[in-house]
Amino acid sequence: MEHLHRTIIEPFRIKVVEPLGITTRPEREQALKDAHYNVFSLHADHILIDLLTDSGTGAMSAQQWASLMIGDETYAGSRSFYRLEKVVQSLTGMKHVIPTHQGRAAEHILFATLAQPGMVVPNNSHFDTTRANCEFFGGLALDLLRDEASDPRTDLPFKGDIDLDKLRAVLVEHRGHVPCVMLTVTNNRGGGQPVSLANIRATRAMCDEFGVPLFLDAARFAENAYFIKVREPGQSHRTAREIAEEMFRLAHGFTMSAKKDGLVNIGGLLCMDDDVLADNCRTRLILTEGFPTYGGLAGRDLEALATGLEEVTDEDYLAYRHASIRYLFDKLDALGVPMMRPPGGHAVYMDAGAFYPHIPAWQYPGVTLTNALYVAGGVRGVEVGTVMFGRPDPNGGHDECASLELVRLTFPRRTYTQSHVDYLIECIAEVYRDRAKAPGYKMVRQRPVLRGFTAWFEPLG
Ligand code: F0G
Repeated sequence: MEHLHRTIIEPFRIKVVEPLGITTRPEREQALKDAHYNVFSLHADHILIDLLTDSGTGAMSAQQWASLMIGDETYAGSRSFYRLEKVVQSLTGMKHVIPTHQGRAAEHILFATLAQPGMVVPNNSHFDTTRANCEFFGGLALDLLRDEASDPRTDLPFKGDIDLDKLRAVLVEHRGHVPCVMLTVTNNRGGGQPVSLANIRATRAMCDEFGVPLFLDAARFAENAYFIKVREPGQSHRTAREIAEEMFRLAHGFTMSAKKDGLVNIGGLLCMDDDVLADNCRTRLILTEGFPTYGGLAGRDLEALATGLEEVTDEDYLAYRHASIRYLFDKLDALGVPMMRPPGGHAVYMDAGAFYPHIPAWQYPGVTLTNALYVAGGVRGVEVGTVMFGRPDPNGGHDECASLELVRLTFPRRTYTQSHVDYLIECIAEVYRDRAKAPGYKMVRQRPVLRGFTAWFEPLG
């Protein structure tokens, strides 16, 4: 789109509408209490704007809905699989295209197949499920971000870059035990920060030097490609699609949660060039996911994904997506709300620790902020701090805390409009104004794994 005006608009109009859960403040207070002050336990009917995740929560296009109708449900050899295979091969250049029901299934099969004693897998930052699958098969999952990228205040264009010195040291130390190097594009754990093309190229060169394959975690590959286009010197003349094609061709394989940049509500991919690895992965796939031409998905899902992958590199869409997140970030920045900088590709991360300096990490400022935002406006964000990544003290003392107390406001794709964002800004402004009197929380129940999803809280004081 030729941008004649300053306002970057949603590049679509709305054909199907879905009512939002409109509630009163007392209703929200009650709903939160009933949910034991954990927004994961809220009912969708009580949520107005849901920014919990961008995973599988986006809107499909008219073309994708049309694709559903031509989905071919043949068990083996589905026409829709062959279409998806062609679309993925054209985008990525990968020889083997293996569908899975979502990203973590692809990770599970990959690590099950690569597993070896003493396995070490370096990554810029492993997403939770990637780490969990690697560790489940006995691996050591290493996060090798550059030190300056861990500080939420440093404003660098490619905070997702892997630290090449750290990577070399790992490849030397664990020579023979690294079955693959991974790069998560964009880096979800690090705030949706992109990886530069220069860094992907250099990582590939290092992988070649050590004879180790490079795998991308490509959940948000299109957002990453767009950041390269607009931020990396010498890339602005290329299309996001061309950049994405190069990113994939620099890798030997990738896992993908298609619920993000596949623009579908369910689906994943595991792709690679290596014939033997692919054969072994397909054998596992049949055990847990399904026959290799559907991998746990319906034919219509494969068809919608093929269309989504064709649509997602559209630059009008990517420019709008980028602008809508930037818009929220800039408005909150003007209010003085502390955030992780710069804004990432799929979310704005508020720094709850700095928002509530009077609440120590072991009283969960991220929960305070998440809950205050829900009560103020029915908006659901998610705590990414000590609840999610900290650990209880076995002696009953304070938790071992996370390094940052963040709250993620994640944007579903093509779902909310600018007026929703304006409303959101109003809610955050109110919460920010009232920050001094906000209480911390205590955790009154927790499970031994992934406690964030099921923990119960009570407000202090
Ligand atoms: N890799 C990345 C970078 C992810 O962000 C996710 C999911 C996965 C893998 C796993 O994929 O959910 O399809 O099995 N991230 C979601 C989120 C859940 O909210 O960030 P999945």
